[in-house]
Amino acid sequence: MTAPAGAVPGTVAGSATPEGAPDGAPEDGRVAVVSGGSRGLGRVLVERLLADGWRVATFSRTANDFTADSERLHPTRFHWEAADLTEPASMRAFVRGVNRRFGRADLLVNNAGVLHQELFLTTAPKRIDTLLTTNLLAPMMLTQACARLMTRQGGNIVNVSSINAIRGYRGVSVYAAAKAGLDGFSRSLARELGAFGIRVNSIVPGFFDSEMTAEVTAGNREKIQHRTPLGRLGTVEEIADAILFLTSPRAHFVTGQSLVIDGGITC
Ligand SMILES: NC(=O)c1ccc[n+]([C@@H]2O[C@H](COP(=O)([O-])OP(=O)(O)OC[C@H]3O[C@@H](n4cnc5c(N)ncnc54)[C@H](OP(=O)(O)O)[C@@H]3O)[C@@H](O)[C@H]2O)c1
Repeated sequence: MTAPAGAVPGTVAGSATPEGAPDGAPEDGRVAVVSGGSRGLGRVLVERLLADGWRVATFSRTANDFTADSERLHPTRFHWEAADLTEPASMRAFVRGVNRRFGRADLLVNNAGVLHQELFLTTAPKRIDTLLTTNLLAPMMLTQACARLMTRQGGNIVNVSSINAIRGYRGVSVYAAAKAGLDGFSRSLARELGAFGIRVNSIVPGFFDSEMTAEVTAGNREKIQHRTPLGRLGTVEEIADAILFLTSPRAHFVTGQSLVIDGGITC
């Protein structure tokens, strides 16, 4: 395969035809694929990308009011399917659905992930398998499928890692291994895909409020805040800001990097 002539990293080269968005947003033909767009960080990304004129494809295991409302409000630009990262057939069906409906991919955010806290010595092999599949193997497979579409015009891949990948915390060793794997994957892949005008980066969030962190006890939350130079947890909007920066023209020369957004807790 050869790199597309004149492709600018992270841009949509040539093929975007404004179609006009019935919902009033300035549609421009770019297609974003966001895993886990039903809630938390994924939901905010879907909302902001739709507001910026993107066509957005996302999946989660279950639908909710947000996915139903988005289908109603953006009938031509929003695509949701039920798919499970632990079921390769459902992931393949999702990508086929995106390709059939939109015919391209310009941005992939590997956002979906699961956190399970348990001491390693008592973690069952099946649990280890699920954690690695959900947080690492399935994002790699999704990346391969989307990157093949991106070789046509260039694109952008952002993998959502975690500060668990760069600092040790008790009870999250398997999750941490998967996230560290995502960071390494991003760096090496950036070397392979740069020639196609595809940038690959990872973002490394600290703790932010979402369903995933809803179970953090008040005591632990206080400890986290105390250890964070900025004195608080992050917001989902702040993490989304960093992802949108990496996908923007302002980051055209940034690839193969891990961007830490954690209020300084790892500094
Ligand atoms: N929250 C934090 O403090 C924090 C910190 C560092 C990094 N992160 C990372 O940031 C990302 C987003 O986290 P979040 O807090 O926004 O998570 P969240 O609120 O729990 O949302 C996770 C999303 O992923 C989907 N999902 C989970 N498992 C799935 C599966 N097996 N197949 C398909 N979809 C699945 C969920 O939908 P369904 O459940 O319906 O499938 C949901 O849409 C994750 O990668 C996480 O590891 C989070």
